[in-house]
Amino acid sequence: MEKLWNGRFSSETDKLADIFNSSLPVDKKMYRQDITASIAHASMLVKCDIIPKEEGDKIINGLKDILQDIDKGILKIDNAEDIHMFVESELTRRIGEAGKKLHTARSRNDQVVTDFKMYIKDSILEIKRELKSFINTLLSISSKNLYTYMPGFTHLQKAQPITLAFHLCAYAEMFYRDLMRYDCFYKQINVCPLGSGALAGTTYPIDRRYTASLLGFADITMNAMDAVSDRDYVCEYLFNASMVMMHLSRFSEEIIMWASDEYKFIELSDSFSTGSSIMPQKKNPDMAELVRGKTSRVYGNLMAMLAILKGLPLAYNKDLQEDKDLVFQTESVLLQSLTIFNKMLQKTVFNKKNMKKSAMNGYTNATDFADYLTKKGLPFREAHNITGKLVSYCVNRRKPIEKLPLNILKEFSNVIEEDIYSNISLKSVVGKRDVDGGTAPSAVKKSISRLKKAIIKC
Ligand code: ARG
Repeated sequence: MEKLWNGRFSSETDKLADIFNSSLPVDKKMYRQDITASIAHASMLVKCDIIPKEEGDKIINGLKDILQDIDKGILKIDNAEDIHMFVESELTRRIGEAGKKLHTARSRNDQVVTDFKMYIKDSILEIKRELKSFINTLLSISSKNLYTYMPGFTHLQKAQPITLAFHLCAYAEMFYRDLMRYDCFYKQINVCPLGSGALAGTTYPIDRRYTASLLGFADITMNAMDAVSDRDYVCEYLFNASMVMMHLSRFSEEIIMWASDEYKFIELSDSFSTGSSIMPQKKNPDMAELVRGKTSRVYGNLMAMLAILKGLPLAYNKDLQEDKDLVFQTESVLLQSLTIFNKMLQKTVFNKKNMKKSAMNGYTNATDFADYLTKKGLPFREAHNITGKLVSYCVNRRKPIEKLPLNILKEFSNVIEEDIYSNISLKSVVGKRDVDGGTAPSAVKKSISRLKKAIIKC
């Protein structure tokens, strides 16, 4: 392997050490960013009269050819320590002496951060597109299910009836927060480190703002040492991904439960489930289980990056080379999970009848019964107590509250009138919660249109 730094070395690197040291198999993914950043750097060197224009042109054209050849699959990326060394030595191989001037006024330390930030910026945009598409799916299923009743749970015990639209919109809100988080993250990462050199800046009269603007960065970093040793943006990338995966994983857990025979709330599409090699009757929710399982890997990557940085002295240390693998693996898990979940959900059939039946069982209208007594003048605590006794009475007789005749109900409190039945029906229990953020169809409709508008702005 050719070394561009071997001037002071008198013997070859051990083969094992070479392999151990090489990041090429991982960072070759950034070839486009590396070449684009080098083109901007060369343009700046010409503009600032640091290298002659003819040589600058040669460099730039050479780099463009390399990019084209890699894109076409003509040029294979191998036999170098990392992608930066590969591009530079390939350039020199192609254009000769001028190629050796490309690395003037920069270091691999600022180069790698520039490339990586560019890569992550693109990745953020892709994740945002996937998030928006997923939120749109959630909102469109919600719009069609404003009146699809289901139980809402706390402690995994039936609590109060809600609608499917309301439940799905809870997820839409989470993914909308993720979207906003990515928006902030993009602004924060959009600061160019190129020109920081190895750690202390450079002696050449460079124009950092020029390269930054050529590369689409909004600003430049203001401390060279921080710029080359900063990997906060990597932690943030991994944290944001962890958060999205956590949301997906919670959703996965519900999908898995809803698909079970005990719930029977949904029927997953054959195209997004798998069978068992031994039990012919099985249809397993593997996609959701995998998303739940892979979430742990993403968390692990975040922990790994934090651990790499803990106790790492300024500025660059080779430990930092581990960062790319963590991000690339995370990116692939996250994008696959989002896409698959989105498609799976679009093809999921909701068993509305079962969901409604389940919403009506389990005394989910008990709160409303107590609220009724309160509205008739009883203090809430007393109303709660009476309703508790009534529920216990019903449990013993295996009857829902609304099936008891008025004379029996009156034994629990004489304020109860005929209007109790309309007050505790499923439709009214849900419909009455039309406070902002509530489960009533009117309220959910409002929150759907708010979200629809909000995601366009992100
Ligand atoms: N491959 C290296 C990385 O990803 C590039 C930076 C190398 N810098 C150095 N001083 N050895 O971190």
